[in-house]
Amino acid sequence: MNICCIGAGYVGGPSMAVIADKCPHIQVNIVDINEKRIKSWNDPDLSKLPIYEPGLDKIIKRCRGSNLHFSTDIENHIAKADMIFISVNTPTKTKGYGAGQAIDLKYVEASTRKISEFAKGETIIVEKSTLPVKTAETIKKILEVSNKNNPQKRFFVLSNPEFLAEGTAINDLLFPERVLIGGDNLEAINLLSNIYTNWIDVSKIITTNLWSSELSKLIANAFLAQRVSSINSVTALCEATGANIKDVSLAIGTDKRIGKYFLNPGPGFGGSCFKKDILNLVYICNHYGLYEISSYWEGIININNWQKKRLTKLIVEKLFGTISGKKIAILGFAFKANTNDTRESPAIDISNDLLKEGAILSIYDPRVSYDQIKNDLDNKDKLYDQNSKEGEWIYQEDIYKATKNADAIVILTESDEFKVLDWSEISKNIRYPSWVFDTKGLCNTNEALTFDINVWTLGQG
Ligand code: NAD
Ligand code: UGA
Repeated sequence: MNICCIGAGYVGGPSMAVIADKCPHIQVNIVDINEKRIKSWNDPDLSKLPIYEPGLDKIIKRCRGSNLHFSTDIENHIAKADMIFISVNTPTKTKGYGAGQAIDLKYVEASTRKISEFAKGETIIVEKSTLPVKTAETIKKILEVSNKNNPQKRFFVLSNPEFLAEGTAINDLLFPERVLIGGDNLEAINLLSNIYTNWIDVSKIITTNLWSSELSKLIANAFLAQRVSSINSVTALCEATGANIKDVSLAIGTDKRIGKYFLNPGPGFGGSCFKKDILNLVYICNHYGLYEISSYWEGIININNWQKKRLTKLIVEKLFGTISGKKIAILGFAFKANTNDTRESPAIDISNDLLKEGAILSIYDPRVSYDQIKNDLDNKDKLYDQNSKEGEWIYQEDIYKATKNADAIVILTESDEFKVLDWSEISKNIRYPSWVFDTKGLCNTNEALTFDINVWTLGQG
């Protein structure tokens, strides 16, 4: 069997690598229009792979060049494939009809048109990207044209959304809680299912129609984001009342009906998907005239934005109402620990707001490159005074250099190294009175207190 995956990103790369690893009898070709990305996937130096995921490098080492290949030769690999996964990006539209909410399906459409042109014989098309419900209808319509012109071509469309989370992608792919397959052709469903049963128990495979599968993915992300916004809304209530968010999380999470997962408070959810998928849900609800439902889901995004803003305000207030010219160390810039992905990271909005107030940020995140931070902070929304000496940021590769002369330290991710900071070392070089703002509630704050550093912990006041 020959598989082609269009899109060598955070989903296409790891998910296909795991298929190749678990199914040595299948040839897996991952293709992309981005030459630089493909070059990095083929780099002999595995530390240069385009995405960082624990365990991914070992799989690439085992399979690359044997049954796993990365290439820009899209047409050729489409032509050879029995099954094609569409795993391209599906960003929110920035212009035109539906801008700011609807998904821009141009990459999905471009991929489908390529498949329509170059596929041969019978081909199963698998939606791996997260798509608006009913996208399979659009894909089928485009493919039908090709089928009319060339009756030997036959296409079967399946929906097989991906539920992996970044930072734990390999584990999530090896031990998924479920695999969802939506479709209307039993043979095609079975062929895809048979790939997964090479390492996953058949009881974990859920099959539905296309629309339930497409919609379930959006709803899963909306429910997860809803939990984060819910717990984040409670942080403010804890701070106002003297309750402690850790106690509240534990107390409610032990109720099985609520469950203990996804109750960790933070500076707001980030990542490429929660916001875009909820906005898409809002758009779909509005499209069907379900306005009450759309405003219900929109509330989750509003709380998320509010949480980020309130953190900046609080930092300014604690630092005597002004941070102009003050050095603030930002520890953690990715949208969460163990990833180099900064898409929609709360650190971007928080940093931009602090820069607008004139702060000098010293940013530390060993997974994120200088160029990425530059791209996130300098190219967009640079409203702060670019000619002033105020509102600058610098990149630091060492925590203790980052915190040197700092008036405040802001911890934004749950990276392990932030749990064991050497406060004795930090205290030697910070500027007193000094603050640490722990937005993850994981820092060894008691120790910081012994060095007369003021500590503010989210949800604890
Ligand atoms: P990504 O941006 O990392 O990767 C997408 C890749 O598709 C890019 O490398 C891009 O160059 C390529 N591409 C776009 N158009 C193409 C075309 N016409 N031909 C060939 N290649 C093309 O995106 P991602 O994070 O991997 O997400 C992909 C999809 O998976 C999205 O729909 C997303 O919502 C969904 N998803 C993402 C995650 C995640 O953790 N990132 C998890 C589950 C689902
Ligand atoms: C999320 C989902 O968890 C995946 O199931 C889904 O496949 C994926 O989106 C997607 O469709 O893209 P991901 O965004 O990689 O995965 O990461 P999460 O672990 O879900 O975290 C998302 C954001 O929520 C992060 O900023 C994280 O810090 C925040 N979060 C998460 C919290 O603040 N508290 C929590 O308890 C959990």
